[in-house]
Amino acid sequence: MALKLGILGSGKGSNFVSIAEAIQKGTLDAEVVLVGSDFADALILSHAAKFGFATYACPPSQFKTKLEPEIETQLAHELKKAGTELLVLAGFMRVLKRPLLDTFAGKIINIHPSLLPAFPGLKAWEQAWKAQVPETGCTVHLVNDQIDAGRILGQIKVPVQADDTPETLHARIQKAEHTLFPQVLQDITTGKIRI
Ligand code: GRF
Repeated sequence: MALKLGILGSGKGSNFVSIAEAIQKGTLDAEVVLVGSDFADALILSHAAKFGFATYACPPSQFKTKLEPEIETQLAHELKKAGTELLVLAGFMRVLKRPLLDTFAGKIINIHPSLLPAFPGLKAWEQAWKAQVPETGCTVHLVNDQIDAGRILGQIKVPVQADDTPETLHARIQKAEHTLFPQVLQDITTGKIRI
């Protein structure tokens, strides 16, 4: 049986598209049951609608980095109601709290644009570029109550080039993300990666 994914994102949704395309191509044996966002006008929701998936937008939040408990509780309820078995954070820019962490304990994964544990937090590609490291990359990891600190499930390394700007580096990392995320998800569905 295909793994039922609930996907959350705040922005342009390119990782979501890579997952949806992998499902269409048949390289990922999963089903998207709901795509949610903390912003009603986020591009990820229009992409999701084009793929024909159900969407859910949270009401506006007064916070920037987390959701009000009642908004997060409702989001968890919607995801559960849709049948989510694995919660996939694809560029969701809020720190998860009890409602989602408890509802999907041990069943939440995130993609981060660095080789964790290096450069957790915001704009990780820019942190790596400023630190002048020769390589960085992307990581898919389990989500716990600490920021970008859960068990690492997969990584791809990306070289930093001498003429890179933060933007060119981020674009190269995103290309790697679009390979890594569907691959890790497929490895979870086959049991190659155990969560
Ligand atoms: C990605 O770089 C991901 O690593 C980070 O947020 C970004 C989301 O990009 N967590 P997109 O919305 O999937 O294009």
